[in-house]
Amino acid sequence: MSDTLIIEGGQRLQGEIAISGAKNAALPILCTALLTSEPVTFHNVPRLQDIETLLALLTQMGVRLVERNSNSLTLCADAITNPVAPYEMVKTMRAAILVLGPLTARCRQARVSLPGGCAIGARPVDQHIKGLTAMGAAIEVDHGYIHVTTTGLRGTHLVTDMVTVTGTENLMMAAALAEGETIIENAAREPEVVDLAECLSAMGAQIQGAGTDIIRIQGVKRLHGAAHRIMPDRIETGTYLCAAAVTRGRIRLTHTRPDTLKTVLEKLQESGCQLHVETDAITLTAPERPTAVSLQTAPYPAFPTDMQAQFMALNTVASGTAIIRETIFENRFMHADELKRLGADIRTEGNTAIVSGVPALQGAAVRATDLRASASLVIGGLAAEGQTRIEQLHHLDRGYERLEEKLTILGARLHRIRAEG
Ligand code: UD1
Repeated sequence: MSDTLIIEGGQRLQGEIAISGAKNAALPILCTALLTSEPVTFHNVPRLQDIETLLALLTQMGVRLVERNSNSLTLCADAITNPVAPYEMVKTMRAAILVLGPLTARCRQARVSLPGGCAIGARPVDQHIKGLTAMGAAIEVDHGYIHVTTTGLRGTHLVTDMVTVTGTENLMMAAALAEGETIIENAAREPEVVDLAECLSAMGAQIQGAGTDIIRIQGVKRLHGAAHRIMPDRIETGTYLCAAAVTRGRIRLTHTRPDTLKTVLEKLQESGCQLHVETDAITLTAPERPTAVSLQTAPYPAFPTDMQAQFMALNTVASGTAIIRETIFENRFMHADELKRLGADIRTEGNTAIVSGVPALQGAAVRATDLRASASLVIGGLAAEGQTRIEQLHHLDRGYERLEEKLTILGARLHRIRAEG
């Protein structure tokens, strides 16, 4: 059973909130604890279901949660007794694959379930496997598990077939403890990759080029304990900006990193929003009605796929027609049908969605299908007239810290109905 969110739409969002630490940076960065026997402390860790899932995964391996208060925690992997990631834990979170590289490097063996219960090929992790194999790991995939053994990883020259974020991160973590130099070509340039490199460097890793498409890692014999502050969540930031944009809002978001949101901010300006950008804060003033903005998703620094659903929601109430192309994932328009239940005019053809703005959405019952799809329904619900009821809220809880609290501060009217049992 999953919670339900009730939104009374039509309220103008106004006020100031702080952005949380980035989920997609925290997930790989917490995995760095596996690379050293010394304690590692992490600050600005968001309180999210995905983080709890990862902590449960790490602790069943033998990693100790030494200390935890509000958004800081210390992990110590002085003894990894069980280098295994079981299916029950991995199936809810694809990012659990991020333990593969560190376990291989530190324990020289690992057994990690294929993510999402998918067969290799459907939502593949072939690049992770190919890279580790080239570094000297022997890998077999059977019964839904990746089995890895190695006598020691050696640095090598890797060229990934496509830009993969967690693939780059996994290989970077493995290379940190490999013998000699690893070069990752066609590397992901996402800010979260840079944040991970900064954490690894604080632990004694030798990494150059993170944030470009060629990363060079000189392997070291051992890494040591460190403290690292997780970067702000650029997707959470973008989500609240879209919510303000569709509600004639005026909001200020603090503790964020505008430099990681260039294309998103450009699109918001194109839609008629006024932005005031400071080093770590963004103020957005929305127009009476946004203008439609077309976009195409692509790896960083281009427009992020994780903001596609939210901009689809924005376009449903904009003046004009927008064309949205999704180039990263094949099946990432599930929110379109749900937004249509709110009265949106959306036509999808393959990886293209054509969104014709309507003057107003009407509240309805909808179902969240995945994390960012849920965010688009919240935005739709905030813009809609009347009541919207979003079911299957566990998707949203994977990635948005204290969403109701933050939206309530901004003047939204919403509440959660807890599932029984
Ligand atoms: C990460 C993000 C996710 C985001 C995505 C794209 C985390 C925890 N998650 O996911 O929120 O939507 O980047 O920005 O950071 N692919 C392969 N083989 C591989 C790896 C990937 O074919 O071995 C394909 C995928 O199917 C997809 C594309 O490459 O079509 C990009 O995927 P990838 O960057 O790996 O996504 P994730 O790292 O899983």
